[in-house]
Amino acid sequence: MIPTSLSSPIDRRHFLRQLSVGAIGLISVSARCGSSLAADASRLLVHSKAPMNAEPPLPDLVRSWVTPVESFFIRSHGNTPEINADSFRLSVEGLVEHPLTLSMAELVRFEQHAVTATLTCAGNRRSEHSRIKPVKGVQWREGAIGNAKWSGARLSDLLKKAGLRETAKHVWFEGLDTVEDGGKSFSFGGSIPLEKALLDRESNPGAILATTMNDKPLTADHGFPVRSLVPGYIGARSVKWLSKIVVSDRPSPNHFVADVYKLVDEGTLLEVAESGPIYRMPLNSAICTPTTGTALKAGRVEVVGYALPPGVPGVSIRKVEVSGDSGRSWTDAKLTSPASEFCWQLWSAEIVATSATKELIVRATDSRDEVQPETVRWNAKGYLFNAWQHVPVN
Ligand code: MTE
Repeated sequence: MIPTSLSSPIDRRHFLRQLSVGAIGLISVSARCGSSLAADASRLLVHSKAPMNAEPPLPDLVRSWVTPVESFFIRSHGNTPEINADSFRLSVEGLVEHPLTLSMAELVRFEQHAVTATLTCAGNRRSEHSRIKPVKGVQWREGAIGNAKWSGARLSDLLKKAGLRETAKHVWFEGLDTVEDGGKSFSFGGSIPLEKALLDRESNPGAILATTMNDKPLTADHGFPVRSLVPGYIGARSVKWLSKIVVSDRPSPNHFVADVYKLVDEGTLLEVAESGPIYRMPLNSAICTPTTGTALKAGRVEVVGYALPPGVPGVSIRKVEVSGDSGRSWTDAKLTSPASEFCWQLWSAEIVATSATKELIVRATDSRDEVQPETVRWNAKGYLFNAWQHVPVN
């Protein structure tokens, strides 16, 4: 994660000006089209429109280290709410001495921090998982991932201002969207341990309350006007349209913490109740070009992709290897972007294809020398698929 500071009054004034322009623009686009800017303007492959779930074609994903908003995946479980930034309020409550209710103007008066961090869905690569045995859910390819510059107040600064009670252990996030499931409707929620929430090092804030993405106000699909952004954790903990932060002595009882986003073999009620929530993203890598089914000519072929470090502080990607002969030999890829904890790394490799080349394989190694697993244990919800990726070619 690459930190920069955005704390001058000029930056804040600029942000507020942009916010009002962005707010009006987004709401009118939403009202006119029944959808929102990022999805309309993008080149995304849409899995579903209501709720909006979409990912970029893989070659678009590796054009730049920072992913343009138009190429950034969207994962929503419910509607995309239309929010008036002027009347919007964010509350901080629960085990705090002084509960807060903040307008957007008050929120951006906190010192602003910018971090570049990769957001990835726990279900990224689920379609590969489903090839082992089908799992329900959006059949994501390898594009439910993107790297962006996010900025906003540090969660730890808000918590310090609210004053934590001694029994505080977890921080819950609640969004303004409505999710329908099993005849019930509820809002999307997330939860992170307090020790993560309190990290306030410049190089490693535990979480920020992001109001901008790539220097512009968040689009409606990505959580306008504010979302939590938790570097190193699965995307589900980065709650969009964030309206409530609750400090508690336990993880949130919200469906998406208590029942979903868990690694379970069969998904029985007992198994779900006994497993803890997933927090960290896994060490992973994927080939983005050539794509599946590409006809390769014999000779040198450039292979390009991304590798994701495992969400552990201080750990980045050390090595990426590609094989064109079913794993008999491996070529070291050139890492073409900065090495940074919580950010993906782009890479390219040149392999020599022959008439015997039927697939390309990639695997990554992190800076602790942990290698991505060759295979993974199947799980009922299709999360954290991070086996070596095989791309069939002709
Ligand atoms: N926040 C709310 N309120 N509602 C949601 O459905 N989806 C989560 C998370 N935050 C979600 C949410 C999931 S599962 C992911 S992977 C990320 O948002 C995706 O963020 P993006 O759509 O900005 O890429």
